[in-house]
Amino acid sequence: MTSRSALAAALLERIHSRQATVGVIGLGYVGLPLAVEFARQRFHVTGFDVDESKTTHINAGRSYIPDVPQDELAAVVASGHLTATSDMSRLRAMDVIDICVPTPLRKTKDPDLSYVVLAVDEAAAALTPGKLVILESTTYPGTTEEVVQPKLEAGGLKADEDFFLAFSPERVDPGNQTYLTRNIPKIVGGSSPAGTRVASALYGTIVEKVVSVSSTRVAEMVKLLENTFRAVNIGLVNEVALMCHKMDIDVWEVIDAAKTKPFGFMPFYPGPGLGGHCIPIDPFYLSWKARQSGFECRFIELAGHVNGSMPDYVVERIADALNSVRKPINGSRIHILGVAYKKDVGDMRESPALDIMELLSRRGAVLSYTDPFIPELRHGRFALKGVDLSATLRDLPDCLVVATNHSTFPYDLIAQSRALVVDTRNAMPSGGTAIVFRI
Ligand SMILES: NC(=O)c1ccc[n+]([C@@H]2O[C@H](COP(=O)([O-])OP(=O)(O)OC[C@H]3O[C@@H](n4cnc5c(N)ncnc54)[C@H](O)[C@@H]3O)[C@@H](O)[C@H]2O)c1
Repeated sequence: MTSRSALAAALLERIHSRQATVGVIGLGYVGLPLAVEFARQRFHVTGFDVDESKTTHINAGRSYIPDVPQDELAAVVASGHLTATSDMSRLRAMDVIDICVPTPLRKTKDPDLSYVVLAVDEAAAALTPGKLVILESTTYPGTTEEVVQPKLEAGGLKADEDFFLAFSPERVDPGNQTYLTRNIPKIVGGSSPAGTRVASALYGTIVEKVVSVSSTRVAEMVKLLENTFRAVNIGLVNEVALMCHKMDIDVWEVIDAAKTKPFGFMPFYPGPGLGGHCIPIDPFYLSWKARQSGFECRFIELAGHVNGSMPDYVVERIADALNSVRKPINGSRIHILGVAYKKDVGDMRESPALDIMELLSRRGAVLSYTDPFIPELRHGRFALKGVDLSATLRDLPDCLVVATNHSTFPYDLIAQSRALVVDTRNAMPSGGTAIVFRI
């Protein structure tokens, strides 16, 4: 047996017997659910995060991610299978190091790999023979091979001879009650067949289905295809919404009818713009990398343009709505329903509601908001406290804007009021006494 196959066999044995120690770097929306799943499968998991408030919450058994149930987290902490720390020197004791840190864009829309680089440096300092290092953060094709591998090898150990390396994109959809870490198939691409084999064996313990691909580059590209597919289709349907408005056609009725086709059509819905840490960002990782190879990604740029124009369009619709009752935006009290980037989550990153609020504020609107997931809003010029919606409905503002369609909002009650509503999500029922403008 070569030393590589002996190392692989030893790691596989430790995975199967649950003796492998698993370290997860970055305990956010992606890392925490993953750490909890490994711990539920009786691995001894250590979560690493530079944010000490997160490690304190975890060690006290408190979940701060809505998709991680409180009782599940508390149980794995109490049983000693999950612990969290900011002490990176403890990475040395890990057989597996799984990196789940942010991959944002710079102001110039270029990839910002600084979080990945810092985390990989920590992993490199802790690297010993036989370890498996996995990158989960979404990134452009080539990152694992061109950025991660050289850093890990700088200390003298060689990938696929002394340690194993893989990329496995996270596909979690925060707030989705049907598809969770466990039942979303996991893509795995190693830097060698042995890397793919050990990483697939590891994920096979926590997910129902593992899909192995031939390389880290393919695995990186899979994730970007998925998210670009969404960004482009949302861009298309947003353009159709703008078109339908000009042609006086109800876009929502059109989509509802079109989706009855049992093949060849998949519904996407218009909205106030893209939000979250994935769809508005990831396609630009791809277009940046493609540009290095002299390829211009026209669909990505066009979708980015259309999606990025939606907050302006929503403000136009608010102006139309107020105009219909002879009011200007300037001085009007405008109440935003939902500031999270999507339904039933508490994540405000890149939320289009913030862009809409910024545009309205510049035009002199007096703003307030309600969001059951975000009690306080501190962003740019805004420092607001969320308002109780029943009080808002008793003393109606000049306009209510449904920016995010949280399930708990009382749409029927609003429909029975005298409110002037701009609904960007088609959340309002038809009928009632409210005056509703849809996008
Ligand atoms: N949020 C999603 O829905 C989602 C879905 C699929 C993939 N992703 C991808 O997963 C990655 C992580 O996203 P997220 O939403 O979990 O981010 P997040 O901001 O919720 O969590 C990242 C965590 O990493 C920590 N961190 C940053 N640098 C660190 C370092 N050097 N060492 C230790 N901890 C560090 C931060 O403190 C934070 O707690 C990104 O690449 C993202 O694109 C996100």
